[in-house]
Amino acid sequence: MTGQDALPPILLVGGGKMGSAMLTGWRELGVSRVVVIDPAPEAASLAGPSVTVASGPEGLPADFHPAAIVLAIKPQLAAVLVPAYSGLAKGAVCLSIMAGQTIAKLTSLLHSGAVVRAMPNTPAAVRQGFSVACAGPGVDAAGRGLCDRLLGAVGQVAWVEAEALLDPVTAISGGGPAYVFLLAELLEQAGVELGLPGELARAMARATVAGSGALLAASSEDAAVLRRNVTSPAGTTERALAVLMAPDAWPAAVRAAMAAAAARSRELAG
Ligand SMILES: NC(=O)c1ccc[n+]([C@@H]2O[C@H](COP(=O)([O-])OP(=O)(O)OC[C@H]3O[C@@H](n4cnc5c(N)ncnc54)[C@H](OP(=O)(O)O)[C@@H]3O)[C@@H](O)[C@H]2O)c1
Repeated sequence: MTGQDALPPILLVGGGKMGSAMLTGWRELGVSRVVVIDPAPEAASLAGPSVTVASGPEGLPADFHPAAIVLAIKPQLAAVLVPAYSGLAKGAVCLSIMAGQTIAKLTSLLHSGAVVRAMPNTPAAVRQGFSVACAGPGVDAAGRGLCDRLLGAVGQVAWVEAEALLDPVTAISGGGPAYVFLLAELLEQAGVELGLPGELARAMARATVAGSGALLAASSEDAAVLRRNVTSPAGTTERALAVLMAPDAWPAAVRAAMAAAAARSRELAG
């Protein structure tokens, strides 16, 4: 528990990977009342002290007036599902973590301008997430502060003024864990191809990615300095980096991949 008061009543729509990770963080801050809407049978396990689960908006208690409505459903369901919550949106701030769903679209679906759009990432599940948030014009200081607490329960939070920045954010920190996990996969595969037993290659790849992340988190040095610290002149790492850092290798591939992801985020936003 922090020194702050328990969180005010929250409606969580979508108790999947991201929704349930956020709920876990909120529980640690202390919740007064959370209603989770999710039809998946496994969502029932999210219920507990001060947390109830319903399969749809018809299961909302009549006396429930949330201070925040958190939208953690798949983006393609937004147009169909979100209008059902417009009655509760008056007097609440809406925090959407859906990729590509703009503040303008959510404002029109909810008939409320108090919309914060944010992009978290999956390390939120271990409270090491990074969320970038953007507040719509109808969000007051209290609404922004509440969203900051809701996102901050699962990691760091940064705010941007320009909503368009959420496209590169989605590419880099939103999808970023996938690229890091890909690196673990590729290191494991390469280890096996070089003759290491599969289990050892897997353990090495996982621990190397996780340990490097922990070192980066614990250090104030630039990533480039930590990289150079591993690189002896004319050594083995230098030989590998010469392949990876060739201009047409990782520098070009990562730039192209991030541009593709940001473009897809813009496409989703229509
Ligand atoms: N995963 C990420 O890396 C990530 C990062 C940043 C943002 N996001 C955003 O977070 C959102 C959720 O992603 P996720 O990975 O948590 O997806 P997810 O695990 O599929 O969670 C979505 C949940 O919504 C449920 N749902 C389906 N219909 C519903 C309804 N009518 N009412 C309420 N809930 C319903 C789903 O149930 P069923 O499984 O039964 O369909 C599921 O439990 C997405 O909009 C995504 O863009 C995800």
